[in-house]
Amino acid sequence: MASNGIKDRVAIVGMGCTQFGEHWDKGSEDLLIDAAYQAYESAGIEPNDVDAYWLGTMGQLSGLVLSVPLKIDYRPVTHVENFCATGSEALRQACYAVASGAYDLAMAIGVEKLKDSGYSGLVVSSPANDGTLGNMSAPASFSLLAPAYFKKYGLDPAKGKEVLARIAWKNHRNGAKNPKAQFRKEVPMEAILSSPKVADPLGVMDCSGVADGSAAAIVCRAEDAHKYTQHPIFIKALSFVAGPGEGPLAQDYDFTTFREVVASARDAYKQAGVTDPRKEISMAEVHDCFTPTELVLYEDLGFSPRGTAWQDVMNGFFDLDGTLPVNPDGGLKSFGHPIGASGLRMMYEMWLQLRGEAGPRQIENPTLGLTHNLGGAPGRCVSFVSIVGR
Ligand code: COA
Repeated sequence: MASNGIKDRVAIVGMGCTQFGEHWDKGSEDLLIDAAYQAYESAGIEPNDVDAYWLGTMGQLSGLVLSVPLKIDYRPVTHVENFCATGSEALRQACYAVASGAYDLAMAIGVEKLKDSGYSGLVVSSPANDGTLGNMSAPASFSLLAPAYFKKYGLDPAKGKEVLARIAWKNHRNGAKNPKAQFRKEVPMEAILSSPKVADPLGVMDCSGVADGSAAAIVCRAEDAHKYTQHPIFIKALSFVAGPGEGPLAQDYDFTTFREVVASARDAYKQAGVTDPRKEISMAEVHDCFTPTELVLYEDLGFSPRGTAWQDVMNGFFDLDGTLPVNPDGGLKSFGHPIGASGLRMMYEMWLQLRGEAGPRQIENPTLGLTHNLGGAPGRCVSFVSIVGR
């Protein structure tokens, strides 16, 4: 794959993020205004300084969703959608737009308002077309990873469940330090292990939160970055792949990997010049839509050798004070998952951490951060990986 990348050519110079959770008193317009104005303010600019916008949202169509509440004065607003990786897709396109020279300042912004949709969780959007693809909910699709991983690497179901619970425990512990997270309480291991089943072996506490929220980033070419902030962060790699979607039907697919993630990680590491991610990446935000997803991602992203991530989980390698902290802001599990905003929320944590502004969850002297955002289901998905640094 020819992917030249834009290493060190684009900077993020302002970011904003709303609190995630249930916003009964706010519409998506209010959330967009909140995130956008936080971002304008952090870059020290006026709304009219931004030349073009990329809006990521799953639920609504067209740039009018953004141009109306922000009262944008006849500027381009592009609506993008790419499953749960929608926010990252908006960021990727805004970065390429300024890198090309077409615009000087661009905003990527994502939003979703899921909580007052009238149903719990996310429903299955469309029935199988030919009877061969299962009509499964998200928790059911991702639950298939757990027994497959346990069997392949010799974990009995009780031990496997403990490993998954340890991931949720870590992410709730991190989220408890985050005033913008949906769930801001530590949850004991016993409560996670005994939470009501959603899709065996996953319980409620293995699932990401369904939330309302918005997040935004302002980007410019690297040489202009210090006009806007003393501490910009720089894009080292942006990779996005869509798989062939054959996993659920392929005889050789065993549900212990996301091939799309392996491909996008390989591409991103090449763009950034990273050869040993376990050692070189200081921290990561990964797509923990369900606990077994995070487990498998550790191996697909090259953080742990195959078959060993569960040991790294149990010995605290990915904890906030571990060697490679993962989901320091609480992740989808604790921060919540308003689809269009999530990829940008992950980047918001990189922004805070790399600038030393993450408060009680600050990681010591991080140099390179990675965000990973997935859309779809095991064997049938799109995957985004970014690497950013000072
Ligand atoms: N993690 C932790 N606590 C959760 C939770 C979660 N994921 N979801 C709900 N809760 C808590 C609520 O805070 C509430 O607690 P309270 O009674 O103390 O106030 C309680 O559980 C019930 O909340 P409710 O909103 O009624 O839950 P729900 O039944 O509507 O939703 C799930 C629970 C698991 C179905 C929902 O969180 C879910 O579908 N998550 C997955 C989302 C998803 O598929 N995203 C796409 C990923 S690809």
